[in-house]
Amino acid sequence: MPALPAAKQPWRIWTDRRGRLSALRVVTLVVLLIPVAKALYDAGAIAHGARPLNDLIHRTGFWALVFLGLTLAVTPFRRILRYGNLIDVRRMIGVAAFFYIAAHLALFYADQSYSVVKLFTELTKRVYLIVGGVAWLGLFVLALTSTDAMVRRLGGMRWRRLHQIVYAVALLGLIHYFQQTKADVTVPTFAAALFGWLAGYRLLAWRLGAGELSTRWLLALTIAISVLTFIGEAVGIGLAFHVSPMRVLDAAFDFDAGVRPGWQVLAAGLAVVALDFAARRWRNGGRRARPAAA
Ligand code: HEM
Repeated sequence: MPALPAAKQPWRIWTDRRGRLSALRVVTLVVLLIPVAKALYDAGAIAHGARPLNDLIHRTGFWALVFLGLTLAVTPFRRILRYGNLIDVRRMIGVAAFFYIAAHLALFYADQSYSVVKLFTELTKRVYLIVGGVAWLGLFVLALTSTDAMVRRLGGMRWRRLHQIVYAVALLGLIHYFQQTKADVTVPTFAAALFGWLAGYRLLAWRLGAGELSTRWLLALTIAISVLTFIGEAVGIGLAFHVSPMRVLDAAFDFDAGVRPGWQVLAAGLAVVALDFAARRWRNGGRRARPAAA
């Protein structure tokens, strides 16, 4: 049988659509395999830990959420850096998120002693698992419809509309993350804030009818998300531990106790603002950047 041209060999994920080796795809592939490499590196510690399967369940769930976030970050970064090629790896990252979440469920099944009855009993009994299960199904639909053939079958508009459910999936994934966290919610709060920033970016671009946001809008978005994160965290901790939210807010300035997620998202957002500012200046050959046309 004659060999297929490289462009027609979809398993050659390190090549672009024309079948040429793509540095961006190779780098992406390496990044997507970091969690596997890290788990192999930690294999000894995992195997000798109290609950090896649970450890792997946590790792796969965490990385699935990280990669889900990265798929949402592609559009803002593509626009800020004017690097259209990034779209080429979005599908790769999304499919990787699904692979990790498939492993997450498979490990959970193994943790239930491979009993289908136990699996379904747990999945219908615990609220955090029901939420995770619905998010899982959403990701499954997204992965199933991620092929070129499905894009053609559904038509561009319907496909895009369907893939908007990625925001609902992310929201459910975050709720599931919060629900299963027993004590310190710093990391889930930071994750929620980053997803909030990404959703806010898309919402603002849509409301303003703009292809991209100006540096000022990026700054406004960053400040708004940072303030909302401080308030959300203070109210959340206040309600959960029956303390005054004002006391929690006061503690935000006590850096000995750690850097609160509100500051973390502010720092991350300001880094994006600085990147946008530098990219505009660079494009304008050092002259003052003009605001983006709405
Ligand atoms: C049927 C679907 C799912 C099942 C059965 C499931 C099950 C679990 C379990 C058992 C844990 C650990 C809880 C504990 O130790 O107390 C967990 C943690 C987690 N899951 Fe899921 N999950 C599902 C879907 C999802 C989805 C769709 C996402 C993300 C989009 C997700 C993200 C996470 C995260 C981020 C954690 C915590 C990781 C960490 O501690 O760093 N899960 N999940």
